[in-house]
Amino acid sequence: MEQRVVLITGAGRGVGRCMAETFARAGDALIIADIVLARAEETAAMVAGSGAGAIAVQVDVGAGPAVAKMVAEGIARFGRLDVLINAAGSYGKAFRATHETPDEEWDSVLDSNLKGSFLCAKYVIPHMMRNKGGRIINFASNAGRSSSPLLGATYTSAKTGIIGLTRHLAVEYAPYNILVNTIAPGPLRSDRVSDLIDERMMADLATRIPLGRLGEFQDVADVVFFMASDSARYMTGAILDVNGGFVLA
Ligand SMILES: NC(=O)c1ccc[n+]([C@@H]2O[C@H](COP(=O)([O-])OP(=O)(O)OC[C@H]3O[C@@H](n4cnc5c(N)ncnc54)[C@H](O)[C@@H]3O)[C@@H](O)[C@H]2O)c1
Repeated sequence: MEQRVVLITGAGRGVGRCMAETFARAGDALIIADIVLARAEETAAMVAGSGAGAIAVQVDVGAGPAVAKMVAEGIARFGRLDVLINAAGSYGKAFRATHETPDEEWDSVLDSNLKGSFLCAKYVIPHMMRNKGGRIINFASNAGRSSSPLLGATYTSAKTGIIGLTRHLAVEYAPYNILVNTIAPGPLRSDRVSDLIDERMMADLATRIPLGRLGEFQDVADVVFFMASDSARYMTGAILDVNGGFVLA
C-alpha cells in the first residue's frame, strides 16, 4: 500500500494512540493531534521508530482557528492529507440526569465531539478535493445508535449528530471521491471507562455484552484501518458497529 498522510485527533491516549501505532506500523505519516500537547508528544515519541514521520500538534477541535492552524501545520510538514480520523471528544459526569446537566457540559461535549468533527472535515476537505480523494472516519458510539444512561443526553446527542454529519458529508463529497464513514464502538477497556465506573460495574457490563467482554483499542483500530484502506473503496456513509453485539442498530 502507498504511504498515506493520516491526521488523527484525540491521538494523545486511548483508541487514538492505538490507531497512531497501527497506521505507523503500516508505514504511514502521522499528524498526531490532541488538546493536551504532552499526550500528543508522547504518542509521537512512541511511533518515532516506525512509519514515515510524525508530528505532534496541540489543538482544541472545537475552535475553528486552532483547527485551521493544525491542518496548515500538517500540510506544511507532509504536503498532503489522505485520511482524517476524528477521534477527539470529551464527556460529562456519569449518570447525570438531563435536568441536572449544566449548560456548559452540553457546550463542551457537543463542541469537542460534533462541532470538532465538522470543523476538522471543513478544513481538511479542500486539501482532499485538490488531491482528488480522501477518507474521513468519524467516531460515534453505541450511545449514538441507542442512548447512553452512563453519559447522558449530551453524549447521546453528540454521537447521534456525528452519524448525521457522516451521512451528509458522504453524499456531498462522493463526487470528489472523498469517502466518509463512522465507526460506532461499544464500551472499551479504557481510561475513559475506568474513570466513569468501578471494576464491579465493568464486570457487570461485560456480562451484558454478547461477546462477553469490553472491547480493546486494537479491536477498534483494526476496523478503522480497514475503513481507510482500498478494501473499503466502495463504502461511504456507513456506520460500523464494533461493540461485541451490545447494541444491534
Ligand atoms: N472508550 C470507550 O469506551 C468508547 C466507546 C465508544 C466510543 N468511544 C469514542 O472513541 C473515541 C476515543 O475514545 P477514547 O476512549 O480513546 O477516549 P479518551 O478520553 O481516552 O481520549 C480522548 C482524547 O481526546 C482528547 N480531547 C478531548 N477533547 C478534545 C478537544 N476538544 N480537542 C482535541 N482533543 C481533545 C483528550 O485529551 C484525549 O487524549 C471518542 O470519540 C469516544 O467518544 C469511546
